[in-house]
Amino acid sequence: MLYKEKLAFLKRTTKSFETFQKASKNIPMGVNSNIRYIPPYPLYVDRALSSRLWDADGNEYLDYQLGFGVLMTGHNHPKLVEAVKARLDKGGIAYGAEPIDSHEVAEELTKRFKLDMVRFQCSGTAATSWAVRIARAYTGKEKVIKFEGHYHGTNDYLFVSYYPPLAPAKPMRIPHCLGMPEGAWKETLVARFNDLNSVEEILQKDSDDIACIILEPVAMNMGVIPPEKGFLEGLRKLSDEYGVLLIFDEVKTGAKLAYGGATEYFNIIPDIVTVGKAIGGGFPISAVIGRRDVLELVGPGKVVHAGTFNANHICITAAKVVLKEILTPEVYGSARSLSKRLAEGYAQILDDAGIEARVTNVGVNGHIYPGVSEVKDYRGYLQQDSEIWWSWAYAMMNRGIIFEVLSADDQWTISVQHTERDVERTLETFMEVVKS
Ligand SMILES: Cc1ncc(COP(=O)(O)O)c(C=O)c1O
Repeated sequence: MLYKEKLAFLKRTTKSFETFQKASKNIPMGVNSNIRYIPPYPLYVDRALSSRLWDADGNEYLDYQLGFGVLMTGHNHPKLVEAVKARLDKGGIAYGAEPIDSHEVAEELTKRFKLDMVRFQCSGTAATSWAVRIARAYTGKEKVIKFEGHYHGTNDYLFVSYYPPLAPAKPMRIPHCLGMPEGAWKETLVARFNDLNSVEEILQKDSDDIACIILEPVAMNMGVIPPEKGFLEGLRKLSDEYGVLLIFDEVKTGAKLAYGGATEYFNIIPDIVTVGKAIGGGFPISAVIGRRDVLELVGPGKVVHAGTFNANHICITAAKVVLKEILTPEVYGSARSLSKRLAEGYAQILDDAGIEARVTNVGVNGHIYPGVSEVKDYRGYLQQDSEIWWSWAYAMMNRGIIFEVLSADDQWTISVQHTERDVERTLETFMEVVKS
């Protein structure tokens, strides 16, 4: 099935192939983020609106990829477009001076995540990198605990054990790519998600040196793996006991999973939260939100935080309208219901067809793991049959639906512009695909 559907897809996307031939002459792999490359060539997109996008060949897709999970607003939300246009008309993009309203966005984030202070950057990678720096400065310690299979961007000390080969007993610490000097990642220690013993073991051995524990509270770079009951509570307790800071990397869940992200959803308040993606509705803005006594370490002679494009006027305008006018508390319930309907529909269709698969769903996100009945960590995630996943992904695209992010490691997102009809059509199409 994979071969047949992939071939049909390649026939439908000849303009993407032509674009790839041109782009790969001066852009390695023809893309500016490796993950966008899907062999033998990436999909090039021309335009998008609401819950739809159109590729270079003019093929229309109902889109659940939504900019790698960025767009809970959906594409081109009218309020966002209007606000950004007005900002441009007012004149100026980067003044080298602070916008007059960045504090309003900061206040909104502190309210959502029940923390005190904020600094803005332009990417999730920048936010997680800096969160670790300030945790190191605050504790005066250097080591960092992260989890196998969790992704925090590509900086040299966190891009470790993201997709490692399996070690028989304990997670192995493996730098994910060439060019990462050992000096940068040798202070990074790796634990297993949903396994408090693996964390405590490290803490007992190294607690004098450990600055922080960083994790995705819902593992969103291995599909969607929720924390087991008691896991986040346990991490909070261990962090307090051993004097380390707890960092929730909510770049994928922040302002999406719930109004106050995973922090609110699971009712556990970490010391630092990083957010990005959804808060800008597609504009590049991220934030580190933290306790007052931690963020007050920023200052001359203390911790430096700087960036030419940090909190630029356009991104602040975008985040303000997204957080205050689009992703308001009322929208989460209906978006979550659509996501639940999708998850239940997928599970029913697979069950009726006698196909083993696990469908997970948290908030507006979910993932189908073919070939497995339970997934609670990286090891479980590796068991999924990604060939079947790709067969479904191509078959759905040939029928006009991008059903999850185009990678078996990711998930669907429901936006505020998706409708019940969109979800019903998706389920009808999936049923047809599974039958075939
Ligand atoms: C949980 C998490 N943290 C950090 C990042 C890095 O964000 P960015 O790609 O904006 O640098 C990502 C990106 O997918 C992510 O999923």
